[in-house]
Amino acid sequence: MAMDQSSILVIQHAAQLVSSSSNGRPRRGKEMADLTILADAALVIENGSITWVGSTKQLPEIPNSAQVIDATGKTVLPGLVDSHTHLVWTGSREAEFEQRLQGKTYQEIAAAGGGINATVASVRQATKEDLKLAMRRRLERLLHFGVTTVEVKSGYGLNLADEMKCLEAIAELDAEGPLELVPTFLGAHAVPPEFRHDQTGYVDLLMRQMLPQIAKQKLAEFCDVFCETGVFSVAESDRILKTARDLGFQLKVHADELTPLGGAELAARLGAVSADHLLCITDAGIDALADSRTVATLLPATAFFLSMDYAPARRLLERGVAVALASDCNPGTCPSENLPLAGTMACTQMKMLPAEVLTALTVNAAAALDRADRIGSLEVGKQADVIICDVSNYGQLFYHFGVSHVWRVIKQGRMVFAA
Ligand code: NIG
Ligand code: FE
Repeated sequence: MAMDQSSILVIQHAAQLVSSSSNGRPRRGKEMADLTILADAALVIENGSITWVGSTKQLPEIPNSAQVIDATGKTVLPGLVDSHTHLVWTGSREAEFEQRLQGKTYQEIAAAGGGINATVASVRQATKEDLKLAMRRRLERLLHFGVTTVEVKSGYGLNLADEMKCLEAIAELDAEGPLELVPTFLGAHAVPPEFRHDQTGYVDLLMRQMLPQIAKQKLAEFCDVFCETGVFSVAESDRILKTARDLGFQLKVHADELTPLGGAELAARLGAVSADHLLCITDAGIDALADSRTVATLLPATAFFLSMDYAPARRLLERGVAVALASDCNPGTCPSENLPLAGTMACTQMKMLPAEVLTALTVNAAAALDRADRIGSLEVGKQADVIICDVSNYGQLFYHFGVSHVWRVIKQGRMVFAA
């Protein structure tokens, strides 16, 4: 099924094609609902890029050698971008799920030695091949749900060797394809057990040894910190992120997830590309994001799985913040690859409109990875990351929930998945 990258691929007669231009920027607030929708639409791909988009009637003459896909009755969309995942893990934590159902909190379980450090114990035992095997299955599921680009965080190694093992696994799977993986170093995910009584020692290790080595080996593009009560304080997060910025990393922050600590303000102040989670963001945090270029990445499936109140999406949108949505796929707070289902949760639980959700899963998620100039919309000149869904309009993607409607996935002009 794979086609030669140099050949021409034409998709025609799509019932609907969403082609909202982005000018390389995320859409903010009200602009998020404003989609450009074409009917009986066609799209031409050459050498992995989009070279033409319009109505099938106006389709220019195409050579006989072109591969043509008839998309009658179907919807053509940009490949979804999952801009926040923790996919590098082994083991599973369903026992914690049960403990939470019986009334224990996420923080209580972590304090008793479970949580992130339970997965750290498993990942430290695992070989790189074990990790790749586990990740490949997760990536396959993401692809099945229409995801073409995935951010992947380390953060279950928590020492230099094991963090490098995780980041190398990401790099190797990125090279393997077909999904494009964006690596983030999250050494500041938790304080590992050997530093339990020496938090400062671990922060020093991160800043003096781990970050410089990861930068030198070019193993990560972003640096993220779990800025949270009982994990890393705002002051510690600030030091770690500034060190990372000086070493050339772009920044992300796990901000205001479980408590309103001020992570959003920190992200805005440091010029982070995104501030993520934000379940407990304050009005001051919302103001800070509105006045910044930082994308607010919301992860509704995590709130769902933790039975917590959802992030205030409508207030963020009303203040003109650029909102993205992502899966947060991880073994503790969100073991699911179903990104479109997270989109449905954004609708029903945060009152986002399907159009806003689509923007949040495409161009704004691309912006959350500093890639809005290259992916996230179907525009001439952009990389041909395209999904064809077996529904007659994009609204059905979030309305008919919990299943995959994806019929074909095209990554950089190459067909990589067929249902
Ligand atoms: O995004 N907040 C920190 N990290 C993950 C949870 C990781 C885990 O519990 O293993 C999150 O919710
Ligand atoms: Fe997360």
